[in-house]
Amino acid sequence: MKYEKLESIKGFLHGGDYNPDQWLDRPEILDEDIRLMKQAGVNVVTLGVFSWSSYEPTEGVFQFDWLDSMMDRLYENGIHVILATPSGGKPPWMAKKYPETMRMREDRVRHHYSDRENQCNSSKIYREKVRIIDEKLAERYHNHPALIMWHISNEIYGTCHCPQCQENFRAWLKQKYGTIEELNRQYWSRFWSHQYSDWSEIESPAAGIGEQAVHGLILDYKRFYSDLTVDFIRQEIQAIRRYSRDIPVTTNTFHHDCGVNLADLAKELDVASWDLYPRWHCGDDKTTEWDCAVSASFDLDYCRSMKRQPFYLMESVPSVPSQFAVCKLKRPGMHLLSSIQAIASGSESVQYFQWRKGRGGYEKFHGAVISHNGSGETRVFRDVCKVGRVLKEWKEIKGAVTESKVALVYDWENFSALAGQVSLKNKKKNFREMVQEYYGALLKQYVSVDIISQNDDFSGYQLLIAPNLYLFRDETPEKIRRFVEEGGNVILSVYSGLVNENDLAYEGYPPHGLNDVFGIRSEEVDSLCDDEYNTITYRGKSYRVMDYCDLLQEDGAEPMAFYERDFYKGMAAVTRHSYGRGTAYYVAGHMEEAFLVEFLSDVIRKAGITPILEVPYVSDVMVKERKKNGTRYLFLMNFSMETRTIRVGEHDHVLDGYGWEILKQC
Ligand code: GAL
Repeated sequence: MKYEKLESIKGFLHGGDYNPDQWLDRPEILDEDIRLMKQAGVNVVTLGVFSWSSYEPTEGVFQFDWLDSMMDRLYENGIHVILATPSGGKPPWMAKKYPETMRMREDRVRHHYSDRENQCNSSKIYREKVRIIDEKLAERYHNHPALIMWHISNEIYGTCHCPQCQENFRAWLKQKYGTIEELNRQYWSRFWSHQYSDWSEIESPAAGIGEQAVHGLILDYKRFYSDLTVDFIRQEIQAIRRYSRDIPVTTNTFHHDCGVNLADLAKELDVASWDLYPRWHCGDDKTTEWDCAVSASFDLDYCRSMKRQPFYLMESVPSVPSQFAVCKLKRPGMHLLSSIQAIASGSESVQYFQWRKGRGGYEKFHGAVISHNGSGETRVFRDVCKVGRVLKEWKEIKGAVTESKVALVYDWENFSALAGQVSLKNKKKNFREMVQEYYGALLKQYVSVDIISQNDDFSGYQLLIAPNLYLFRDETPEKIRRFVEEGGNVILSVYSGLVNENDLAYEGYPPHGLNDVFGIRSEEVDSLCDDEYNTITYRGKSYRVMDYCDLLQEDGAEPMAFYERDFYKGMAAVTRHSYGRGTAYYVAGHMEEAFLVEFLSDVIRKAGITPILEVPYVSDVMVKERKKNGTRYLFLMNFSMETRTIRVGEHDHVLDGYGWEILKQC
């Protein structure tokens, strides 16, 4: 029932954020918008993301007439609506009358009215104001035929440190630890005389002027605030659900490290959605197009894995973004290719921020479908129309799923803990890079990958890869043991299994609780300077190791590669150990990607995992697949400007620069 209207739309959603309340005095523009939307094959718009001051210009005075007529007109023209709750941005009257609705910084300075997404999630008055406006929207529009989805807030992120949040944090800690003695034990607080004698002494951490030395506390504050934010979203969903039970809810997520554990947030949502703004054509970070494609793909697969089902690309830019150090135009072909990449990764939509550029405000030059010239005769508009046509042509793919036998463990709690950890390399840990290199190497094997957390269910996967899983929750070793025992293959890499969920070091040798499964003990870890490297030999070839080198004692494992330099020359750098019906591999360093490609290809073959395509990697060509009712859709995507040829079965497929092809195989 909940998905009925959404599913009744035949084919993908195409559209984006639309802000007609910025143009209410220009009826001819609104007419033109609808005409151009139809021309571009737009079948959905997201309304009201930041419309609070248009709905409630002064406290308690509501006006929805403009939205009534907009919803009606859109529907009459075959365009559906995703309706947002406006909690991502508040009107100035609210901050003036209720300053406690504004967030407080770590240095305990209250924000002035400004920007957006800066509310305190503890503020009772803010929650109340949000509840009122959300209920009004739900009551008024729940039956509107145009409505297909609720969009809660916008890209929720960040933390607050106000007195109310401090109180709530202490209550959260009490709930978690029960006694102050237990908290002191977990925080190891005799160190530097940090023992708390009473809950009231606990303050949230603060860079520069506050606690930064108790890692358990830092991690707990992140968890507390994540729980608070999830609760804030949950409250918004409840307000909507009071009147609207039959329409799915989502919130547009956009960053793995936005201060919220997205695995928790996903549980509250009916569908997951993502805002994606890759730095195509290198932009400010000087990476290659392929690297950018891998990073974009990582985000898309991450979002699909949040609920392990198709998701929605809620925002992307049809032309030039405005938020980067160097903002590049999307080169001809890239808009369509990047849209295909989203669909290939499991998205049910291609949506933009935004439909029409505003004339003022912070984002007046952020690329939109319609620019200030108001014309439909532009390169960008033609590109958007092309996407509309292709989505229509391939509408049968909607609902097709991605099946993955390989999972990458990329865990919010782990990377939150690693961020605060002091040792090895403190300035540049390169954690995300390491994870992404594994992911990139997997893409080069043409296998599908899910990106999961250590709390997720591992069953159904044949290969689990957990790079640098520093933090083990208490149950993690047992889960990994069982997974291997029952025939799974697992790869753990350097500096894994060091601390418990409170960042308290485990006694014994890492990886904690798994020495017998991996047949190794990690005794020490060396760090390398940024311009330094060691090398290893693997199957007769030499590869670089950067950043970290775990020094292993073998205890039954078979060494597969050896360090070639330094005092640990000759020691094992990669090991393999059979355990139960499965195999446990340990990769002791941050290996260069070329090694990962070779190594993963061997592991995948040995594990009996069937790739999407069994051909050697063709430079810059990404391959993904979706399946539905016995049909598989194969997506071939060339992220280079040069022509590439890839063999599928008996045939060579020639892809032009930024070219793509979808193959249907029954
Ligand atoms: C998103 C945000 C949009 C818009 C866009 C511009 O992060 O949700 O409102 O600001 O970025 O890139």
